[in-house]
Amino acid sequence: MTQTKPQPKKLYIKTYGCQMNVYDSERMSEALGGTGYEEVSSPDEADMILLNTCHIREKAAEKVYSELGRFKGLKAENPNLKIGVAGCVAQAEGEEIMRRQPLVDLVVGPQAYHRLPEMEARLSNGAKVLDTDMPEEDKFEQLKARPKAKRGPTAFLTVQEGCDKFCAFCVVPYTRGAEASRPVARVLDEARDLVERGVREITLLGQNVNAYHGAGPDGEYSLARLIWALNEIDGLERIRFTTSHPNDMSDDLIEAHGQCEKLMPYLHLPVQSGSDRILKRMNRSHTRDSYLRLIERIRAARPDILISGDFIVGFPEESDQDFADTMDLIRQVGYGQAFSFKYSTRPGTPAAERKEQVPSDVADARLYELQALITQQQRARQDAMVGQTVGVLFEKPGRLPGQMVGKSDHLHAVHVSDCDAQPGDLRQVTIVDSGANSLSGVLI
Ligand code: 5AD
Ligand code: SF4
Repeated sequence: MTQTKPQPKKLYIKTYGCQMNVYDSERMSEALGGTGYEEVSSPDEADMILLNTCHIREKAAEKVYSELGRFKGLKAENPNLKIGVAGCVAQAEGEEIMRRQPLVDLVVGPQAYHRLPEMEARLSNGAKVLDTDMPEEDKFEQLKARPKAKRGPTAFLTVQEGCDKFCAFCVVPYTRGAEASRPVARVLDEARDLVERGVREITLLGQNVNAYHGAGPDGEYSLARLIWALNEIDGLERIRFTTSHPNDMSDDLIEAHGQCEKLMPYLHLPVQSGSDRILKRMNRSHTRDSYLRLIERIRAARPDILISGDFIVGFPEESDQDFADTMDLIRQVGYGQAFSFKYSTRPGTPAAERKEQVPSDVADARLYELQALITQQQRARQDAMVGQTVGVLFEKPGRLPGQMVGKSDHLHAVHVSDCDAQPGDLRQVTIVDSGANSLSGVLI
């Protein structure tokens, strides 16, 4: 009798939202890999579908429900298909999801992923599973180690989760829980493992990554100290981190931007508004002026740093003058990159209680105006790279024959023709042209 190997079951994961979800999806895939699943790129052939969701704005959550509705046909064709909702919508809405969409078999919050293998066993027995606990243990430690597969040149590494800042508009403190930092040794082990598998650039992730305070072999480590430790890893060429809060931008981190060679000249530092009145109502606990002074200090340490930001327009009570203050702050800072959003009421947050909503068409007009200014600044910052020589980490071939694409130190996409660089090579490139969304250059 010949023994046939069991066919791997097929897992389809769709990821919404931030980079932390991208990282979590990888880890979920690896955890379920241990129970016989392999990842596929289409839901049509899947035995399990997981939506890793985002709850940050209303639209993001609604998308999840409309996507779930689309799986009805698939479930009719394959009654054994398991459908799961993970991520922040799962955490925030829990059982309500199963009530609203009976197709769903599994609801798992972001702090419970390490229990997925055991949940899968229960699902296989026909049970429905809900787990939105926020246990103390390090979920990443419990998840199966990353398999030793080769990786591309860039990777995310979550070092911190949760947020204690409680900005009045934001669901993160409720969906991701309190701030928690992973121990230094675990982060370094994971980083070394990534480098062995081909990674050259690591982006450290956290909802409030610069509030990192992990236990180290010789006391507590700040984010700056962690970066200096990572700087020692041979083969790791670049370090980035995101997302930061202005109040946690400590002196040692600013100094690292000036002195640590592998730390890239790019900083995402959301301010949300340029009006003190609105910042106060947002519970941001910094002022317009303190933010501007902070940017000055960071630029003094690293003059070529590219500053990126997040903005919300149409927060309750935002007047024309408040919005003008935001536009003025943007002009003063000069952003190389920015993300801007229309305020979205999130149930359970303090701002949701406020009656003084800005009319939707007013918020739309402000968003349009703000985005036009940001686009102009982004383009100017990109154009200013022409003639300069920068490091480029090559990632993949471009669309044209012989062309390669990579990212510059400042995170601009760079195309190089007649390029003999391989994915993972870090080379010096002189920038010769600036297009709509990318630069082109020549190897030196
Ligand atoms: N409405 C609009 N934008 C929001 N953000 C967070 N919460 C909301 C909300 N309720 C934005 C902030 C944050 C980014 C990740 O999402 O700008 O920095
Ligand atoms: Fe949300 Fe504010 Fe925390 Fe950022 S700092 S995750 S915006 S509460």
